[in-house]
Amino acid sequence: MRSTPVVATVRELRAHLAPARKAGRRIGLVPTMGALHEGHLSLVRETQARCATTVVSIFVNPAQFGPNEDFSRYPRTFESDRKKLADLADLIFAPSVEEMYPDGFATRIDISGPATAGLESEFRPHFLSGVATVVAKLLIAASPDEAMFGEKDYQQLLVIRRLAADLGLPVDIVGGTTVREADGLAMSSRNAYLSSAEREIAAKLNVVLADVAKQVQQNVAIPMAEASGREALLRYGFTSVDYVAVRDAETLLPRDGIHEPARVLAAARVGSTRLIDNLPV
Ligand code: PAF
Repeated sequence: MRSTPVVATVRELRAHLAPARKAGRRIGLVPTMGALHEGHLSLVRETQARCATTVVSIFVNPAQFGPNEDFSRYPRTFESDRKKLADLADLIFAPSVEEMYPDGFATRIDISGPATAGLESEFRPHFLSGVATVVAKLLIAASPDEAMFGEKDYQQLLVIRRLAADLGLPVDIVGGTTVREADGLAMSSRNAYLSSAEREIAAKLNVVLADVAKQVQQNVAIPMAEASGREALLRYGFTSVDYVAVRDAETLLPRDGIHEPARVLAAARVGSTRLIDNLPV
């Protein structure tokens, strides 16, 4: 097994990538916060299939966590992540917080407009700007030809597309299909927080989303379909529901016609664990 080299500074990252860039070889980046699961690995495999050089970044980004969120308990499993990436990634970029946010760091990227209206922004106001800030830094540091993000964080994916377009970054932002457990639960590093009783409840998120999507296809009024999804989640044992929302799949605005592709998105808590998921309608 070939173990993947690890670099911790932007300078080393650029030096490692320079020969590939000079030779015109396609470079792909998969940004992650580690605690890698099959969902991440599928993004890495897809990137590897298209790119000559695949870089995976592992960085638990403090800027995207609120003061009462799980930054300090977020799983950090670097050695096992590194083993999982052997033979898959060509380089791991694992910077420290100081490397990404040196003393005096004062820039934050704020994206307004439809992509950040509501949903995660309403319940985690710091989240999308924290993601935009770190992703901009990662894209500038690695200058990849493409970067891949999972569709499980659907609003995040659209915000990153907006960011790359608005800043004119020469990178293709590619979305990867959500990988699910056998019972439909979307893979997530946060699933590790769930007790076995909570794990059973968590699997219903996907069931409820599929039901809401079906109702919309059958022309049930969207507010009714959303309300029934919310009630179903609480009935199944979710502790609280932040949102169940049917939105335009490209703009994330409420849909004004029945012909545009739509997406149903939800965020809900089981115990203290917040889960998100979404499905196409
Ligand atoms: O989806 C994630 O794991 C993170 O939000 C990301 C994109 C790596 C930015 O920290």
